[in-house]
Amino acid sequence: MPKKVKFLGTGSYAPERVLTNFDFEKLVDTSDEWITTRTGIKERRVASQDESTSTLATEASRKALEAASVSPEEIDAIIVGTITPDTMFPATACYLQKNLGCREIPAFDVLAACSGFIYGCAIAKAMIESNSAKKILVVGAECLTKITNYQDRGSCILFGDGAGAAVLGESDDESRIVTCNLYSAYDEEGMMVLPAGGSRLPTSEETVKNRLHYMKLKGRDIFRFAVIEMNNMLERELSTNGIGMDDVKYIIPHQVNMRILEAAAERFNISMDKIYTNLDRYGNTSAASIPLALDEAVRKGLIKRGDLILLVAFGGGKTWASSLVRY
Ligand code: ACO
Repeated sequence: MPKKVKFLGTGSYAPERVLTNFDFEKLVDTSDEWITTRTGIKERRVASQDESTSTLATEASRKALEAASVSPEEIDAIIVGTITPDTMFPATACYLQKNLGCREIPAFDVLAACSGFIYGCAIAKAMIESNSAKKILVVGAECLTKITNYQDRGSCILFGDGAGAAVLGESDDESRIVTCNLYSAYDEEGMMVLPAGGSRLPTSEETVKNRLHYMKLKGRDIFRFAVIEMNNMLERELSTNGIGMDDVKYIIPHQVNMRILEAAAERFNISMDKIYTNLDRYGNTSAASIPLALDEAVRKGLIKRGDLILLVAFGGGKTWASSLVRY
């Protein structure tokens, strides 16, 4: 019998500082009404100067370890999904390893934007199934506000900071990660890119002057891509696993835009109550968004052991990913 892998425990953390839509009215030409109706976002969290992706990840991981009753010494690998690493190297996972006091284990980052957490879970699942690890810490963590262009009203209103974490390990009951399906395709349209700071366009006075060290988005194209792929992934997970939407307790999607999620609800003729959202309070936190929402739903008692849940993500790359989980 192949090994089963499950979530042993989850945790999350968001910085204290809140940036509301009303705060944005003082920063750029926008309004609470525009942001709310176009995105569903009301506020987001912002990391302080002293905080970085690894410090948020550390808080979330401590809570996940506690929930799983697993000590840092028992962790056999750390995988962090992020597009805002503390430094290009060392990996954010290595800072986290030090902060938690883990052993000399593999610790690495996965760069798959908003799909990063599901990518991390897929790698962890394969490592545990193949006996190369018993317990793995998978984290999605971001400080997106540090790469947000606050002069671009079309994108700056979307993003927030946060972290979510999960300890994955062997299952001896019905709980298990049933599938992890990962996809990517080069972003020909240049929908989502951080233009400067890599080897293609190293940071220079010119790149900073032209604000190329901040994220650039084509919001409408992303919107279309997200609606199409979210529908495709949900359809595929249902048909290949022989289940109906009625069997699924919750869909936990990447928290991208309320209208995208409403489009999926309409397509599948399901109530919005089945789609767990917290983007009104956190905005888009990229790789952190799914584990942050998952942990919140678990701690509220909305997701219980044995429930079937569907995770769906889409983001920069382009990347997209889905996972069916018997929690
Ligand atoms: N306030 C007021 N008006 C605005 C704002 C704002 N904050 N931003 C844009 N507008 C204006 C535009 O200038 C435009 O005006 P015009 O018609 O006079 O030119 C008008 O509103 C419509 O602009 P659109 O960009 O077409 O607005 P849209 O309805 O598509 O909403 C949005 C934009 C919210 C960005 C939407 O497309 C969206 O949510 N897309 C998904 C983007 C996303 O979340 N990406 C994250 C992925 S990034 C990653 O993976 C790391």
